Amino acid sequence: MVARTSKERKVWYIDYLFTTGNAFKELKLFNFESFLKIQYEKLKKIIITQDIKIAKKYANNSLLFTTFDLISSFGLYVYIGYKTFSSIILIGDMTTYINGIDSVKNSVSSCIQAASNITRNSFYLSLLFKFLDQDNQNTTVGNDIRKKTITSIETIELKNVSYKYLGSSDYAIKNVSFVLKKGSVLGIIGKNGSGKSTLIKIILGFYKNYDGTVLVNSKDLRDIDSYSYQKQISAVFQDFIKYEFSLKDNVMISDISKYNEEDKFINSIKDVGLNDYIHNHDMILGKWFEGTDLSIGQWQKVAIARSIFKDCSMLIMDEADASLDVISQKEIYKLIAKIYTNKIGIFVSHKVISTGKIASEILVLKKGEVVEYGSSEKLAENHKHYFEMLEADMDYN
Ligand SMILES: Nc1ncnc2c1ncn2[C@@H]1O[C@H](COP(=O)(O)OP(=O)(O)OP(=O)(O)O)[C@@H](O)[C@H]1O
Ligand SMILES: [Mg+2]
Repeated sequence: MVARTSKERKVWYIDYLFTTGNAFKELKLFNFESFLKIQYEKLKKIIITQDIKIAKKYANNSLLFTTFDLISSFGLYVYIGYKTFSSIILIGDMTTYINGIDSVKNSVSSCIQAASNITRNSFYLSLLFKFLDQDNQNTTVGNDIRKKTITSIETIELKNVSYKYLGSSDYAIKNVSFVLKKGSVLGIIGKNGSGKSTLIKIILGFYKNYDGTVLVNSKDLRDIDSYSYQKQISAVFQDFIKYEFSLKDNVMISDISKYNEEDKFINSIKDVGLNDYIHNHDMILGKWFEGTDLSIGQWQKVAIARSIFKDCSMLIMDEADASLDVISQKEIYKLIAKIYTNKIGIFVSHKVISTGKIASEILVLKKGEVVEYGSSEKLAENHKHYFEMLEADMDYN
């Protein structure tokens, strides 16, 4: 029964991942629907099989009971009839006979009810299997044949991009323009609410209704097949997901086609220093399924390991360093700098000094607008927005 409850909770958890907004970004970028679907199928089949067994057992029992009830009622009827006609009992005793008829009726209706239960459950089961057997052709997975597919990202260019959230009168992003080439790293800094994460979501192709143009390899992002584009991108989101799966699944879901590449997984967790304290890679993380919960910084390392496990042309980190201790930050910065060398990098952080070291160009956002853009050295000399934030970071540290 405990095992059954745990399976039901897992099914509920997969439902939750599929249907809540937060997981949607990672689900779309890492494209691991099929992985979740397989888990869902397995668990649901076990549960449905159990339900059918229980229903059949119940139906058999109730069939047995009603048959017995029917025969005994009928026997009673014959017996009463014989006694009445033989004048052994009075006509008034016919009440018993009527009760007997009622009893027969009730029994027959129970029988029909039990039979319909079996039919209904079988029908639900066949519908479920039909649903689970559908291939991915009708889902978001797969290329859109009307659009251009790409196999790498060489350049990203934004031309006067503006964006307003639905229902909001203010621009979250206003007239943003810049060019990024392979090997360059854009550091985005700005106060809370300045539009950093929104800009990232536009670049990722999550928001379509922006003004202006986003060019990928000089082609309009709107004309590019989003599946092939997002296949080339990996990211750590500011609100990354702590999957209640094993460490292995947590990391490998960013590219399930490489699920069996154990060495690649080991390298990813070694790179972020997770192997120092997690030795059992199949251990379930989190607390929903009696797993081992991690600190927020350790979870952040899991998210970073997940992002680097996926081969990509562009790696986006949105405050991926927010909860790391100073030693880990140093290690992660070294790692990111190394990974960024042959990619397009986008690095969002409130650690201005470190961002200056990692990024080749810095973009300072204020209320959605670019107020400064250039190398960290150049911006430091400007003594304006970047300089002010740099000084604040220096004073603090
Ligand atoms: N889903 C949303 N719906 C409506 N408005 C939003 C939404 N997400 C963000 N905003 C608004 O857009 C603006 C920019 O938000 P964004 O999350 O991009 O800021 P940020 O620079 O990433 O901030 P932080 O440093 O806190 O992460 C804010 O004013 C915010 O209130
Ligand atoms: Mg943000």
